[in-house]
Amino acid sequence: MFQDKKAGIIKTASWGSYFLITLFAPEIARESRPGQFLMIRVSDSLNPLLRRPLSIHNRSGQEVEIFFQVAGEGTKLLAQKNAGDFLDILGPCGQGFSLKPEFKDQEIFCVGGGRGLAPLYFLARELQAAGARPVIFYGGQTLSDLPLKKRLEEAGWETHCSTDDGSSGFRGLVTRLVEKELTRRKPYYLFACGPEAMMASLAKICQTAVLPAEFSLESIMGCGLGACWGCARKIKKNGEIKYLRICQDGPVFPAEEIIWPGD
Ligand SMILES: Cc1cc2nc3c(=O)[nH]c(=O)nc-3n(C[C@H](O)[C@H](O)[C@H](O)COP(=O)(O)OP(=O)(O)OC[C@H]3O[C@@H](n4cnc5c(N)ncnc54)[C@H](O)[C@@H]3O)c2cc1C
Ligand code: FES
Repeated sequence: MFQDKKAGIIKTASWGSYFLITLFAPEIARESRPGQFLMIRVSDSLNPLLRRPLSIHNRSGQEVEIFFQVAGEGTKLLAQKNAGDFLDILGPCGQGFSLKPEFKDQEIFCVGGGRGLAPLYFLARELQAAGARPVIFYGGQTLSDLPLKKRLEEAGWETHCSTDDGSSGFRGLVTRLVEKELTRRKPYYLFACGPEAMMASLAKICQTAVLPAEFSLESIMGCGLGACWGCARKIKKNGEIKYLRICQDGPVFPAEEIIWPGD
């Protein structure tokens, strides 16, 4: 892991409350794997004090991208940054998605809810590079929650969109769309990131379909480095229930290890 105190912002793009920032960060870019994240200092002042975790959305040469939705004070400050500004970033943090050799020639479902699409773009690129066929499912409340739709389609991946109000693609939840697709075909594996309720529902769907899956979990993070245990969550590991740190042991966990609220 590296600290880059002066990662230069090369360019920014925005769609309503969603933002994409491209950073020049050669060491971090070199080491990044899909599903890993950056801990970003959003302000030079003491407020907000804590770095904010954001997934590595893409890596291209010496650059990394982050894609985020404004949620509160920290992401609002980040959204105000411009090309030419610098960010203090730590990364790559955590354990990413597993990229298995047996994925070659197989169809892999990648399911993102809203800003949860963030880590899946990098993942889909790496899956494709490894000879797998990523199939993307991208869900949001309405069309404006799908700002990356065009980018996904331009990448040439089979992309299925859903919106709660039917303004784009399938009308209804992305989980329903995946379930529908599973009646027609069986992928080899599924990866997902999004709201907890979406992933919990998807976990049940995968269990019924006997489909192995991995989910990227979120938590408010203190350090992001495994030191404070502020992100600890109960996980089933080798038959035992333990507290593990989302920042260090995750954020990606196999479906069968995750204990969902209400389980
Ligand atoms: C490993 C990881 C990767 C992430 N990747 C992305 C990403 O790529 N793009 C993106 O848009 N967001 C991502 N998030 C969520 C993002 O970190 C939070 O939205 C952000 O930290 C909120 O900071 P804030 O100061 O803007 O909001 P705050 O004022 O801190 O909080 C605003 C609201 O968001 C909730 N919140 C704050 N932090 C989190 C969190 N970590 N998880 C869930 N809810 C939270 C708070 O409870 C509050 O309701 C990720 C989170 C984790 C843990
Ligand atoms: S955020 Fe400190 S241990 Fe995970």
